[in-house]
Amino acid sequence: MDALEAILTRRSIRRYTEEPVSDEALETLLEAAMAAPTAANQPWHFVVIRDRSSMEAITGFHPHAEMLKQARVAIAICGDPSLGHLTGRWPLDCSAATENILIAANALGFGACWVGIYPVEERIEGLRKLLAIPEHVIPLSMVALGHPAEQKAPPNRFKRDRIHRERW
Ligand SMILES: Cc1cc2nc3c(=O)[nH]c(=O)nc-3n(C[C@H](O)[C@H](O)[C@H](O)COP(=O)(O)O)c2cc1C
Repeated sequence: MDALEAILTRRSIRRYTEEPVSDEALETLLEAAMAAPTAANQPWHFVVIRDRSSMEAITGFHPHAEMLKQARVAIAICGDPSLGHLTGRWPLDCSAATENILIAANALGFGACWVGIYPVEERIEGLRKLLAIPEHVIPLSMVALGHPAEQKAPPNRFKRDRIHRERW
């Protein structure tokens, strides 16, 4: 699958088979994450979660994370403002890294879904406590991941009326 196809066919996949996701594939996805553009000198850390009880626990404080009960692995993308030299950029950099994981996952045939954490305080603190994330680090998102057990048609969200040429 080429890059454009991986972008245009990406959907949120929330059902997964029991087939495991290999460490090699996971490392490729993290390599894709770290290849993302960065304004603040890569101000991120990634927590890889395979533990089923941790996945279950997240659904206790996150109302839209039920897919974690089936996910084979999840990645928490966390911002560390102390690593960046520009203030306020870490959410942007972490978002770019998250999107890269989603596109790479689709390209490799995995199903994946963005699980929103930041800026919801309850989710940030719930994840911080569960994963022992340091006080100065802020979890921005998670990606739930597995081999897909559902198929979705490519989205067609192209809106010509949202495009402005030269001036608004
Ligand atoms: C910032 C952000 C947070 C999101 N949080 C969640 C979430 O907590 N749970 C979930 O099931 N999907 C979440 N999504 C996925 C969206 O629901 C999904 O991308 C949207 O409905 C469009 O569908 P598609 O990804 O299949 O194209 C999130 C997406 C973004 C960009």
